[in-house]
Amino acid sequence: MAVILKVRGTRDLLPPETDLWNRVEATTRALFARYGFGEIRTPIFEDTELFARGIGEETDIVSKEMYTFTPADDVGRSAGRGDARNLASRNEKAQSLTLRPENTAGVVRAYIEHKLNDIGTLQKLYYIGPQFRRERPQRGRYRQFWQIGAEVLGPAWSGAESPLRDAELLEMLATLLDDLGVRGWRLDLNSIGSATDRPRYLDALRAALAPVKHQLSADNQRRADTNPLRVLDSKDPEDQALIEGLPKIADFLDEASLDHFDQVKTALTACGVPFHENPRLVRGLDYYTRTTFEFTVPDGSGLGTQNALLGGGRYDGLSEMLGGPKAPGIGFAIGEDRLILTLEAQAEQEGHGTERKLDAFLAPMGIPQNSAALLLARDLRAAGLSIEIGEGAFRLKRSFETADKLAHRMVIVGEDEVATGIFTVKHFARGEQEKVPRADLVNALRR
Ligand code: HAM
Repeated sequence: MAVILKVRGTRDLLPPETDLWNRVEATTRALFARYGFGEIRTPIFEDTELFARGIGEETDIVSKEMYTFTPADDVGRSAGRGDARNLASRNEKAQSLTLRPENTAGVVRAYIEHKLNDIGTLQKLYYIGPQFRRERPQRGRYRQFWQIGAEVLGPAWSGAESPLRDAELLEMLATLLDDLGVRGWRLDLNSIGSATDRPRYLDALRAALAPVKHQLSADNQRRADTNPLRVLDSKDPEDQALIEGLPKIADFLDEASLDHFDQVKTALTACGVPFHENPRLVRGLDYYTRTTFEFTVPDGSGLGTQNALLGGGRYDGLSEMLGGPKAPGIGFAIGEDRLILTLEAQAEQEGHGTERKLDAFLAPMGIPQNSAALLLARDLRAAGLSIEIGEGAFRLKRSFETADKLAHRMVIVGEDEVATGIFTVKHFARGEQEKVPRADLVNALRR
């Protein structure tokens, strides 16, 4: 029978790789807690309208990458006729739903829906979860991928608009990447101005593009019409000279935006976070205002051309675009798949893996010792050690080979050992063997 394979652009994550995913997530959660973030979990699918309005109809994500569907109407059939539930079901029937391509719109929707603005203090929310985009799959780019993201938002009086929040978030990211051991990261920073600066800039950009548009690639010609800002971050080599000559947003920022950006840069410099100003960093989602940023890793870090590890920015008008109150905010999302690929590639370059071995492998020397091994494993695991048990029917050679693959040490559980309570421990890295009384075993097996 034909084998059924996973869908193009999706991945199965298996151990031991998932151990690294879990370690990264545990480090990240602990760090987020130190910065006062709490976890939010929003649905994986939302009303399509949320993304169309939040991210923008003309963006690549909304115009061509979303997984959109209309649920079958069997929900309606199970509800009683004429009652409110039936009505609700019928509404649901007509509703277009989309697998979330990102999580900022969902978080802001939940913020509005749960009236978090009324709390009055800054809300610091983080999430870890899968997102879905129908992109052309390649290394570091998948159709289901994971993001670790965070959003900081609140009413104006909570200080959510302050450049201090931008700097704090960027400092947190720099600390996180350092804590995780990512080497050579680079922070690119820009300000794309407020809702009042942007139209003036867009007019200038359109005017500058009009006479030269026909010289651009087909993709950029389309962008010049639908979303001219996106022309700026095009990587098309043929178009670079022309793009360099286009007006820069920095020249169109009003005083308030310039001052905001200056304060972000001053605070970052004060806490020693290095950054590069990049006037072409506009990002691919329409909700951004003022600060935008991206962290990349150097070539050869396992990502191929997909070198953006994470991106984010400020979105002071998003809540209002979604029908909510004024609630300025800023956030980011890390591509977790890309982060893991980077950590693996960099570990390999340094000549060590990311795999962790178990503390010990218990090798019963015969079937009668199987239960003694199980009891010993239970006690050692209760003491916090990671343990695997072999099988008494194995020959010694097989036990050795399996133990060497899985664990730092092997403990021989033979008839004598069980009778005397003195165990033989083989340390693979040191190539040594020692006799250890049961009472000292936990210490001997600790790393
Ligand atoms: P984004 O730049 O679209 O921003 O995505 C953030 C990160 O997700 C990217 O830098 C990349 O690492 C990862 N990513 C995006 N698409 C893929 C893919 N197809 N495969 C693998 N990784 C991918 C956002 O999503 C915004 N919501 C970030 C944000 C939060 N802005 C404010 N708050």
